[in-house]
Amino acid sequence: MTTLIKNGTIVTATDRYPGDVLVDGEKIAMIGTSLEMFVDRTIDATGKLVLPGGIDVHTHLDMPFGGTTSADDFASGTIAAAHGGTTTIVDFAIQYRGQTLHHAWETWMKKAEGKAAIDYGFHMIITELNDQVECEMDALVRQGVTSFKLFMAYPGVFMLDDASIFKALLRTGKNGGTICMHAENGGVIDVLVKKALAEGKTAPRYHALTRPARAEGEATHRAIALAEIAGVPIYIVHLSAAEALEMVTEARDRGLPAYAETCPQYLFLSYENYLEPGFEGAKYVMSPPLRPKETQDRLWRGLAFNDLQAISTDHCPFCMKEQKVLGTDDFSKIPNGAPGIETRMSLVYDGGVRSGRISLNRFVELTSTSPAKIFGLFPRKGTIAPGSDADIVVFNPNRTMVLSARTHHMKVDYNPYEGRTVTGVSETVLSRGNVIIDNGSFVGRAGAGSFLARASR
Ligand code: URP
Ligand code: ZN
Ligand code: ZN
Repeated sequence: MTTLIKNGTIVTATDRYPGDVLVDGEKIAMIGTSLEMFVDRTIDATGKLVLPGGIDVHTHLDMPFGGTTSADDFASGTIAAAHGGTTTIVDFAIQYRGQTLHHAWETWMKKAEGKAAIDYGFHMIITELNDQVECEMDALVRQGVTSFKLFMAYPGVFMLDDASIFKALLRTGKNGGTICMHAENGGVIDVLVKKALAEGKTAPRYHALTRPARAEGEATHRAIALAEIAGVPIYIVHLSAAEALEMVTEARDRGLPAYAETCPQYLFLSYENYLEPGFEGAKYVMSPPLRPKETQDRLWRGLAFNDLQAISTDHCPFCMKEQKVLGTDDFSKIPNGAPGIETRMSLVYDGGVRSGRISLNRFVELTSTSPAKIFGLFPRKGTIAPGSDADIVVFNPNRTMVLSARTHHMKVDYNPYEGRTVTGVSETVLSRGNVIIDNGSFVGRAGAGSFLARASR
């Protein structure tokens, strides 16, 4: 199967130029101007941007959490991702206490196999560390699961103590893996949650008020310090607070390999959303929580100046009906997480590029190239170049769309950006050479996605 994408503007993290892209089989075969050849399919990209497929390195599909399971499985979640111009995800497998990492890997491979419509990799969440688990970390890195998420929050569920975190960091110094950190001080938060509930403070907004920005700043500082002592890089996930960003910035200014991502929810939503009437604030219960509106400018500056290297979604959807309502009388029982796998590229293009906060090249870098490089997928993914996988988005920078639960493809009954108009739409999407979104319609196949064995550092 050959496809020629003609007359578009090709955009990578570094370049922007008019050109045609020839796709042969699963790969990009040639880039040129005025390419004329017999092909199976021609896509006219006149007036459109031709972008590398989006890479979302933080998703939670079919994830048991908070007494329920995230609403999108690997079929619905990856189809929604494709609609939004994302062609690769890195999801999280979970080692529950008493289980091996291998068991977790097998469990999550089964969840994805036959369902994922786009390519996928896994990070491994470690909730218990011992000598055997450390050896398994090495084996996983060899298998292409080259990053591990550790939690400094959720005591009794996911949280690891500092000694275990330090041992895991040291291990990545030997095996070439990368530690991804959920940086919030879980002990402090637990005390604040119990105190709030004892005072009868049960509404969704107390989720945010019991998870102070300083608790994220403290944990971020500690995580970076532990990585510095261990002499290894660290990647902070879902960074939301200015206090945390300051810690990353300070570390990077000292030349440390500290990396961090933020997510659209922290760029476009704020604490004020928790004040929506009734139980509506539950839609935004996620950890870390939404921060004051002023933080948004700080995060955009961090993105522009490379103190933040990636924008991922932390897509972890729970329906208001039957799932979020578990916490009607107790905010601490509201399942933590929100949907976003489908809306990332349009939101960031509209709010970032069109508003002049980041350049078009930086948009590509933050949503595709940089996560590909950090997580061992580049140059197979994350760019438009001969030899790379033909994961390509034909993006209409002038088309407008209204974000809504009525039209989105995520299997969740609300959209955190309901009614928001964005300009910039992923119209046609190719995954390894196959058109999977054709002018807005899904024409791919659940199960066509492949597991990606990622490279180590
Ligand atoms: O609230 C969130 N972020 N839910 C997903 C789990 C996590 O910590 O990333
Ligand atoms: Zn987390
Ligand atoms: Zn997450």
